[in-house]
Amino acid sequence: MMGTKFAAACAVGSMTLATALLATSAAPAWALDGDPIAGQAIFQRICQNCHSIDVGVNKVGPSLWHVVGRQPASVQGFDYSDAMRGNKTPWDVTALDSYLADPRGDVHGVKMFFKGLGDARDRADVIAYLQTKQ
Ligand code: HEC
Repeated sequence: MMGTKFAAACAVGSMTLATALLATSAAPAWALDGDPIAGQAIFQRICQNCHSIDVGVNKVGPSLWHVVGRQPASVQGFDYSDAMRGNKTPWDVTALDSYLADPRGDVHGVKMFFKGLGDARDRADVIAYLQTKQ
C-alpha cells in the first residue's frame, strides 16, 4: 500500500510527494527526514560489505558516491545487470526507497543479492546518509 502511494506521488513530482506524505496520516513524517548519522551506521554494517562510498571504487556493487539523483547503472567500469541497465528512473529518494525495500523485487532485477531493508526508517536514514555524499 505504501508502494502505491509512493508510485502515485512520484508521477506528479517531488514537491507534491512531500505534500502527499504530510497530508496522509499513514505516511511517516520521517520518510522525508532520515538521520544521516544513523544511516552511516547502517551503511557500514550492511551496504559496505558490497559498496564503497568513495569515488570510483567498485566492489561487489558499484561505488555509491553521488548516487542520489544520478542515473542508474552509470558508474564507469561496473558490470551491471541488464535489468539495471534498462532502469531509466533516476535515483531520487522515492526510487531508492522502493529499491532498498526489495532490491530483488520486480523493479531492478536480481544482481544485488541483498534482501533489503524492511524498516522504512532504516531506509530513510541510509538515504539521508547517501545524500551527504554528493
Ligand atoms: C551482497 C552485496 C550487496 C549489498 C549488501 C548491497 N548491495 Fe547495493 N548493489 C549490489 C550490486 C551487485 C549492485 C548492482 C545491481 C545490478 O546491476 O543489478 C547494487 C546496486 C545498488 C544500487 C544502484 C547503483 C547504481 O549505480 O545504479 C544502489 C543505489 C544500491 N545498490 C544501494 C545499496 C544500499 C544503500 C545498500 C545497503 C542498505 C546495499 N546496496 C547493499 C550489491 C549489494
